[in-house]
Amino acid sequence: MNKIKILVTGGTGYIGSHTVVELQNKGFDVVIVDNLSNSNIEVLEGITKITGVRPAFEQFNLCDTEKTKNFFKKHDNIVAIIHFAAFKAVGESVEKPLIYYRNNLDSLITILENIQSNSIKGLVFSSSCAVYGQPDELPVTENAPLKKAFSPYGNTKQIAEEIIADFISVNAGSRAIALRYFNPIGAHNSAFIGELPLGVPSNLVPFINQTAIGIREQLSIFGNDYNTPDGTCIRDYINVVDLAKAHVIAVERIIENKNKSNFEIFNLGTGNGASVFEIINSFEKVTGQKLNYKVVERRAGDIEKVFADTKLANDELGWKSEISLDETLLSAWNWEKFLRFKI
Ligand code: UD1
Repeated sequence: MNKIKILVTGGTGYIGSHTVVELQNKGFDVVIVDNLSNSNIEVLEGITKITGVRPAFEQFNLCDTEKTKNFFKKHDNIVAIIHFAAFKAVGESVEKPLIYYRNNLDSLITILENIQSNSIKGLVFSSSCAVYGQPDELPVTENAPLKKAFSPYGNTKQIAEEIIADFISVNAGSRAIALRYFNPIGAHNSAFIGELPLGVPSNLVPFINQTAIGIREQLSIFGNDYNTPDGTCIRDYINVVDLAKAHVIAVERIIENKNKSNFEIFNLGTGNGASVFEIINSFEKVTGQKLNYKVVERRAGDIEKVFADTKLANDELGWKSEISLDETLLSAWNWEKFLRFKI
């Protein structure tokens, strides 16, 4: 039987690479498009080591409409697309808004045009809990009103969801699922793939790992005067392999016509909030490392607390996060050690 072919854009990136592994483990034929602007070609070796299969790979920018069109001519049997390719640094998006709007929205529009012209079944889209801003009620459900985005990055996710909704409403043959991720962390158990931040990481867990391994001197905790039990911000940290598995379920749902509506949206989180101190305590416990940190001023743009209501994803997708926070932080640490020392 012919394998079902899935295009994974941004497939050498952090969540993309973990999703490629899960797709290949389930027998899908994967082709990756990535321009390697924020990832490394060596990720393909990691994927191959884990799955025994080297995914097809093409390097180009999806904002390039000609190249994208030609790609779909060459790969004329793609059934569905998982679209990860996008810029994702919140701070950078504030500095360079047009680059974010151009890159994240142009590439999406090009993908949608090709879905239409190639009769592709549908799209799974990487969205973010950033669309909620600071929600009025927690845990936050998919029906919560979207607040004005805190950053151009968050705004690209809000606008992208609207573009998809408008497209789907006039293309009855196509379906889409937007997955709103909370805070993805951790790495594959094998430690052959994980997060590869370029330069100084802005996210908490990569910064913790790099501090513990000695690349950074000290972790700054951005504020301990929030209205939370220990004063630090609360997030819903979700294991990246759990997250990747939800993408496989979503793409199968599209392929098997199981959608309840042509455009569905799901939160992907654990449903539990953890504070910055809780993350540090868990990291120190499972790794035996003592972390050098100090509390500094709040970071501009941080929201106080957010965590997901996961009922919809639990009920409709039959998905829930399985890997504990402790295991997840250990996997991130094992990946960091592999990366630096190949151990
Ligand atoms: C942000 C975005 C999220 C995006 C993610 C990926 C928002 C609301 N969230 O998540 O959509 O997917 O980035 O880039 O825009 N912290 C420290 N010290 C550090 C780093 C972080 O104390 O050195 C704290 C932060 O203040 C925050 C928590 O750790 O409370 C998590 O921060 P981070 O990992 O950067 O993720 P978010 O800002 O939640």
